[in-house]
Amino acid sequence: MNHLINTRDFSLEEIEQLFERATEFLDEKPREILKNKTVITIFFENSTRTRSSFEIAAKRLGAMVVSLDVSRSSSSKGETLFDTAANLDAMGPDAIVVRHKSSGVPHILANYVNCPIVNGGDGSHAHPTQALLDLFTMKRHFGDIKGKKVAIVGDIKNSRVANSNIELLGRVGVEVILVGPPHFLPQTDLRVHHSIEEVIDEVDVIMSLRAQTERHANQIYASLKDYGTDFCITSKLMGERDIIILHPGPVHRNVDVDDFMMKDPRSKILEQVKNGVAVRMAVLEKLIEH
Ligand code: CP
Repeated sequence: MNHLINTRDFSLEEIEQLFERATEFLDEKPREILKNKTVITIFFENSTRTRSSFEIAAKRLGAMVVSLDVSRSSSSKGETLFDTAANLDAMGPDAIVVRHKSSGVPHILANYVNCPIVNGGDGSHAHPTQALLDLFTMKRHFGDIKGKKVAIVGDIKNSRVANSNIELLGRVGVEVILVGPPHFLPQTDLRVHHSIEEVIDEVDVIMSLRAQTERHANQIYASLKDYGTDFCITSKLMGERDIIILHPGPVHRNVDVDDFMMKDPRSKILEQVKNGVAVRMAVLEKLIEH
């Protein structure tokens, strides 16, 4: 049984094949590849992009989609997460996509079910499909990405997106530089800076991240605006530089990225979202036997 818990679950060769399929799926045409298959999504944390992207991906492949509304599920009556998973598994799904606030949940659930588990984001641990679609977006823009430099800017310590990107980008020969205030940075062997200006003339990509206030034990900044004063990607900061901007969403406008840069052609944020559906189609096709 193959699962996607973190990006290491796929070899670089598998990722190349996945991207070839995702490129075909960019046509947004409906297919019958997963006809008669069932995909369940269970999101214990809120989501706009990942959940709808997986559901559209599954439907475009012809699968049936069951989306468990956690707030109305029997979790609220005291059923354990593992019993919830085992009961859903007993209905014979072909894949379960799960998001949970606790790191490690998808990995543990994989032992309780007889179908692939796809990690839709677990705590601050991993968000593998986000990293895959980020890499896919970079490859579509640059072609060859070996030797490119990516500055990940923001709340890196609490970010599953950063973790998955650091892991994946390192494997494909992209240098990752971490930029943020000291409180937002993890212990790392990577290059670290506390100001975007220090690295802006050497990077090809800026990946901005949201301040994950829901994961902060203490309030770090008096307000998000204070953080934005130092780390917002503004048109003034960017100037005419040939750098693309990525952000996994949700964006805190004028804190992470300003209004001008959100609509600048160098911003690939909505392209990431579009690419995400195609990449998730390729992931579901790969994991589900048909
Ligand atoms: N990128 C991402 O995980 O967005 P959502 O939280 O909206 O799914």
